[in-house]
Amino acid sequence: VLIVLLGPPGAGKGTQSQLLAQSLGVPKVATGDIFREAIARETPLGVQAKPYLDRGELVPGPITTEMVKSRLQREDCRKGAILDGYPRTVEQARQFDAVLRDIHRGLSKVINIDVPDDELLRRLSGRWTCRKCQSTFHEIFKPSKNVGACDRCGGTLYQRPDDSIEVAQTRLRVYRTRTEPVIAYYQEQGVLVHVDGQQTPDSVLSDILSRVQVVAPS
Ligand code: AP5
Ligand code: MG
Ligand code: ZN
Repeated sequence: VLIVLLGPPGAGKGTQSQLLAQSLGVPKVATGDIFREAIARETPLGVQAKPYLDRGELVPGPITTEMVKSRLQREDCRKGAILDGYPRTVEQARQFDAVLRDIHRGLSKVINIDVPDDELLRRLSGRWTCRKCQSTFHEIFKPSKNVGACDRCGGTLYQRPDDSIEVAQTRLRVYRTRTEPVIAYYQEQGVLVHVDGQQTPDSVLSDILSRVQVVAPS
């Protein structure tokens, strides 16, 4: 099973990729998480990517595709993966098709999570993210049990610098111009499914599971 999650910033890609990874038993591969980890560790990749994440712009060039390719070739992805945040441009979608041919894999489904703009900004401005495992919480919609601590791993919660209103608006704009065309790209391939992202996380999850037609192991 190889699932791509598409959707604007705040649509719930991170939330759903984690739930899907748990219920399907495959890892999530989130390019934003990989960049943020590299930035925190100050690796060369992190140093290169940081100015783009800070501004809410896409990291340019082929490095994101190269990163995804090597990640998918690791042992834990042999049964598949949930892709969160990639591909994000039509160019990356084309590169990804070439990668899939190279590594003899096929896409199961591409899920587009729809959520209106005003709701997206509410979600981003109240989001708290775990420094350790990148789980997300929301001060109103999904508070953690202990203030400032991750329910999943106990790590410290922080507010992503790119969740400031200015940068969030840039990210939304970048999404509209660069990422939205990817929806049509996959529609033409016949693998696209729309789900309503304005329901509880559990309802969104069961919509996705029913559309990918895989039965979650109990
Ligand atoms: P990335 O980390 O991918 O950020 P994004 O696309 O802007 O998406 P978010 O993580 O903000 O939102 P999400 O959809 O995951 O929402 P979440 O589940 O957390 O990318 C960051 C940066 O990295 C980019 O700007 C770029 O610089 C770089 N980058 C990444 N990929 C790249 C690529 N392929 N190419 C080039 N550059 C790349 O939910 C949001 C909030 O809402 C949370 O608080 C959550 O608790 C809450 N929530 C979730 N679901 C619900 C629900 N159903 N009801 C109520 N609240 C909910
Ligand atoms: Mg995310
Ligand atoms: Zn955590």
